[in-house]
Amino acid sequence: MARLSVFTSGNGSNFQAIAERILKTKHTIPCMICDRKKAYSFERAKNLAINSYYVPYFKRTKESAEEEIIKIIEKEKIDIIALAGYMRILSPDFVEKYKNRIVNIHPALLPKYPGTHAIEKSYASGDMELGVTIHYVDSGMDTGPIIKQESFTRNPCEPIEEIEKKIHNLEYATYPEVIEKLLDSYK
Ligand code: GAR
Repeated sequence: MARLSVFTSGNGSNFQAIAERILKTKHTIPCMICDRKKAYSFERAKNLAINSYYVPYFKRTKESAEEEIIKIIEKEKIDIIALAGYMRILSPDFVEKYKNRIVNIHPALLPKYPGTHAIEKSYASGDMELGVTIHYVDSGMDTGPIIKQESFTRNPCEPIEEIEKKIHNLEYATYPEVIEKLLDSYK
């Protein structure tokens, strides 16, 4: 049985999809960590009966925020960290400490369109193949070895709202499964 922590910054729909799958397995999610006080992911954590922690970066150094996160990770004996819409770049020290134990999902086919507004950027590019990427985290922005990519061919008439829906549904179908495999292989 492995212990997962999910890091979020906002809506938390991927966190929800992950939790709905993982909570049915032998693995556990002792906590969710979020850097934004008003994030909807706190509401989701409450409904899922998952402990949550607010760790702000506001008016402090990244080092100090990460020290607080590390204390939580140690206290909760976390094995694997899944970033799910967590809009922070982790420091090289943090990433090194949890090497090969942190994963992320990005709503584009990396290395294309890293960073924010990836769906808008993919949409505007005119690329016919759109999709999502799950990768190990290093200290770059949406870099690190790719674990899995899933894609679909767009219909040129589709509006961005439809594309957005498809990409999110692909995330919910792919990320929880990859995380479960990772947890299975961990313990
Ligand atoms: C997701 O689409 C995720 O892939 C993206 O943020 C969204 C969070 O939604 N992450 C990135 O863009 C990382 N660079 P959610 O809070 O509803 O899961």
